[in-house]
Amino acid sequence: MAKIGSSLHEAAAFLQHTVVAIPTETVYGLAGNALDPMRVAEIFKVKNRPFFDPLIVHVASYAQLSTLITDFPEPLKKLADAFWPGPLTLLLPRSGIVPDITCSGLPEAAFRMPAHPLVQELLSLLDFPLAAPSANPFGYVSPTKAEHVQAQLGALIPYILDGGPCRVGLESTIVGLIARKPTIFRLGGLSQEAIEQMIGPVDVQINQSSDPRAPGMLKSHYSPRKPMLTGNLDLLLQRYADDNPVLLVFHEYRSDFPRERQLQLSIDGSDSSAAARLFDILRQADDFPANRILAEYAPEFGLGKAINDRLRRASNFS
Ligand code: TXA
Ligand code: MG
Repeated sequence: MAKIGSSLHEAAAFLQHTVVAIPTETVYGLAGNALDPMRVAEIFKVKNRPFFDPLIVHVASYAQLSTLITDFPEPLKKLADAFWPGPLTLLLPRSGIVPDITCSGLPEAAFRMPAHPLVQELLSLLDFPLAAPSANPFGYVSPTKAEHVQAQLGALIPYILDGGPCRVGLESTIVGLIARKPTIFRLGGLSQEAIEQMIGPVDVQINQSSDPRAPGMLKSHYSPRKPMLTGNLDLLLQRYADDNPVLLVFHEYRSDFPRERQLQLSIDGSDSSAAARLFDILRQADDFPANRILAEYAPEFGLGKAINDRLRRASNFS
């Protein structure tokens, strides 16, 4: 099992020669030296992730970023100024310093300045940026607590830097340009509305799993092991009420179903509370003594859009 601790110096020492799990404000990451092809290969191996699915490079500062890119197009720079450090990843043309393996040979690499104070301090102790995908086996739900990482990758890594439960709880929103038009490639912890307030209307292209610009958006992503269906709970219960389901309600518990078989996503009805709890609740539902998970969608605004995207991908229609 991995050691769980909060020593930045221990984490930094391990990162000189191997990979460790780190907290961020979005989800826990599996981090290694983004500029060392050996370390990046180790990340892919531990995660069992295909090499065509590129990683996000986490940077400490604009000074560090400037050595890794060849251009910072205006609308993306504006977003960085507004939302970094934070749950926003930008696709930018990479310099020769970023190895092919980190970005699957694409001309652009993904960059993010994370907001979690522990990872900011860790980055400031290192003289390299950190490549970090979410610290889960490829295809499973992302981890938002140190113990989620321990349960799944603990046997494969030496150290988990514990930064507490992730504040945002959804992966970063990924934005790049297509023919100069700002485009969201993954909905995430920064809402489309917040982005559009800064730079005006953006395109959203999140569903083409064959698009090499967003190779990570595969349908199987974020899947629990149990059969799961998301939709109108009245209709789903007509069909599956007798098949021992566990319900995932957005906020209001149903009065026509046993309370102890319902898991509540949002404590206060807000999108941010639901986002922070989503992956933990999905894991609880997966471990629940039930035959299947039945979930309802969140209201489709703010972080609700990203929550619904994850619920849709988690559903496996069996
Ligand atoms: O919040 C997050 O973004 C977390 C934390 C740890 O920072 N990381 C994360 O990484 O979610 P990961 O590897 O699970 O998702 C990275 C996504 C993938 O969908 C990948 O395809 C996309 O970023 N991506 C990375 N580089 C890309 C590139 N050059 N072009 C297009 N998509 C890219
Ligand atoms: Mg992931």
